[in-house]
Amino acid sequence: MKIFFAASELVPFAKTGGLADVASSLPGALLELGHDVRVIIPRYPSADHSGVALEETGCKVHARVGEKILAGDILRGTLSSGVPLYLIRYDPFFDRDGLYGSPEGDYPDNASRFIFFSRAILDAMKSLDFWPDVLHLNDWQTAMAALYLQTYKGIARYSEVASLLTIHNLGYQGLFGHLDLPLTGLGWEHFTPEGIEFYGKINFLKAGLISADLLNTVSPKYAAEIQTPEFGLGLEGVMRKRSKDLFGILNGVDYSSWDPALDTLIPAGFSLENMEGKQECKKALLKEFGLAQGPDRPVIGCVSRLIEQKGFDLILAAEKDLAGMDLCFVVLGTGEEKYQRSLLQLSRKYPERFGVRIGYDNRIAHLIEAGSDFFLMPSKYEPCGLNQLYSLKYGTIPIVRATGGLDDTIVNFNPKTLKGNGFKFADYTPDMLSVTVRRALQVYGNKALYKDLIRNAMACDFSWGRSASEYEKLYTRLLIRKHAGKSSGKDPV
Ligand code: ADP
Ligand code: GLC
Repeated sequence: MKIFFAASELVPFAKTGGLADVASSLPGALLELGHDVRVIIPRYPSADHSGVALEETGCKVHARVGEKILAGDILRGTLSSGVPLYLIRYDPFFDRDGLYGSPEGDYPDNASRFIFFSRAILDAMKSLDFWPDVLHLNDWQTAMAALYLQTYKGIARYSEVASLLTIHNLGYQGLFGHLDLPLTGLGWEHFTPEGIEFYGKINFLKAGLISADLLNTVSPKYAAEIQTPEFGLGLEGVMRKRSKDLFGILNGVDYSSWDPALDTLIPAGFSLENMEGKQECKKALLKEFGLAQGPDRPVIGCVSRLIEQKGFDLILAAEKDLAGMDLCFVVLGTGEEKYQRSLLQLSRKYPERFGVRIGYDNRIAHLIEAGSDFFLMPSKYEPCGLNQLYSLKYGTIPIVRATGGLDDTIVNFNPKTLKGNGFKFADYTPDMLSVTVRRALQVYGNKALYKDLIRNAMACDFSWGRSASEYEKLYTRLLIRKHAGKSSGKDPV
């Protein structure tokens, strides 16, 4: 199949979260399955330091934003997986340090920027003469392309392209004031509750949700959750309407970057067969954060965007309980000022046992995965989550809240049956967090049990192969539908 994979971020070019990891590794896994897959992203200044050689294609894209037709250039490169990559260069929109905003907030012209990119994706098919079977869109930044594709229905080659929209996080919808409607080039007939209107605003993600041929999200559990008011963030009705077209496929892990036996960013490698290196990593981690050394004291690690979604309110509310336990805690993250401030306060209050690093740092992220004994993700909601999957491979036991992908991938350890790969709790309360951490520490205290648990965790395989095959099935389903004319109901593939 010919697949055009569009995203607004991609490792090693630009990353704010897991989408960038997925955009880089899923296409590689699809290529391995024998598909002609190509990726398209905006060109940010970071492209110059990505290590990927880029060349001009000489091709242009033209995209209408409001009354203006804007022209961008297409650059070309090849990802380390062998996947061809196209970058859309239009400096007035993308030659900026941030992807979506600066420390002052979102860029005020984000609507124009991603209308441009969404239209440019479609125009690139024409200029590159690459007509995919499937246009695979990701999140609100590219979602409008599904609606534009629908409006191109009368144009033969476009009408043969089927679209899939993957929702990585419903918390980011691309909301803009109604006065921006003329920028979209769509008529007011689209600004209705059945269309792209959402409580008086324009909702870019919704544009994709109502018009993509199929939808999926990044775990089966989250696919079910977003159809409920608790997790649907106002879009649960739209989700329920399309529930027959909505699927859940777990993300995979790129084990060429996240495997302690191959990891070049950590001080000592290790594997299930030889775990000695893990102790060395733990020592280096404690040193990095200036914490008291003590090989028997468990270390709980956390690498995260510091936002409400990730459960920092729980961690802060459980401060007293956690401080009363014999453990060290290390956190790496950036995000909301209030969480940064509170976490730094904790590190000043418990300087020997609580280490905090504010910032984005891939080396430290790897060191935390390698050197910690446990990894904490008490998320309020979590579409998939990648860090718990990385942790399993590093024998760093996840302690998670049972939501979304965390619930789908982590199985509570049962000391009787010796089954399970981590610890999880359902109620979003500080008490349940403390109780679960205590349960984890009890197992840590029993060397034989803890060894079994580590073995279970490290034996888990979340490589992309399986997920890529699921996407392949979804693409096949799309094509069958496209060729059979749209039928309602799930067709048996
Ligand atoms: P989300 O996409 O919601 O942030 P995921 O768990 O899917 O959550 O992915 C987060 C990714 O970003 C992981 O690869 C994680 O290691 C990385 N990450 C998050 N915060 C930081 C940070 N401060 N420094 C380095 N890497 C980070
Ligand atoms: C989002 C989600 C995260 C998911 C990632 C990649 O950022 O918050 O759970 O793993 O996308 O799909």
